[in-house]
Amino acid sequence: MKIKQVFLPNENATKKLAQAIGVLVKAGDMIALYGDLGAGKTCFARAIIRFLMKDENLNIPSPSFALLQPYQKDKQVILHVDLYRIKHPDEVEELGLFDDENAIIFIEWPQNAPDLTKNADWQIYLETGENGLGRVAKVKSKHEINLAGLEI
Ligand SMILES: Nc1ncnc2c1ncn2[C@@H]1O[C@H](COP(=O)(O)OP(=O)(O)OP(=O)(O)O)[C@@H](O)[C@H]1O
Ligand SMILES: [Mg+2]
Repeated sequence: MKIKQVFLPNENATKKLAQAIGVLVKAGDMIALYGDLGAGKTCFARAIIRFLMKDENLNIPSPSFALLQPYQKDKQVILHVDLYRIKHPDEVEELGLFDDENAIIFIEWPQNAPDLTKNADWQIYLETGENGLGRVAKVKSKHEINLAGLEI
């Protein structure tokens, strides 16, 4: 397991990290996004989905009410999931997250379905920085985490 930690001073830095990870994400990857309310999970997912969809203006609503928002570019399916509101991990079955094994899946509040998400290909932890400034991102992955091009 590889681990990288990055300080993100502002929202733009969160977007840059999302794009840098977007380069590394592969078809079939699950990306678990951990962090408290307002930590920046949706902000991160929005930026990476826009990057993968090659559409900077794509409307990416928070899936906190719909639970699941699907996207598709050519044959690549991208799923954006928020498990905050589920009451039991069984509810995830109904979402059909694994219908397409090549789908790239971003999951906010993955800890609400731990058995499904604990082996995610990417685990990204977002926390508020010291003195409440910015965010600290911890990125864990089975893949190499090459953030050489990341300038924050
Ligand atoms: N690096 C950063 N520094 C400071 N603020 C940031 C940073 N990245 C994102 N933000 C801000 O943090 C907020 C994150 O909101 P967001 O909806 O993404 O949180 P969330 O983790 O998805 O919360 P929820 O659990 O409610 O879904 C936004 O207001 C965004 O501008
Ligand atoms: Mg969110």
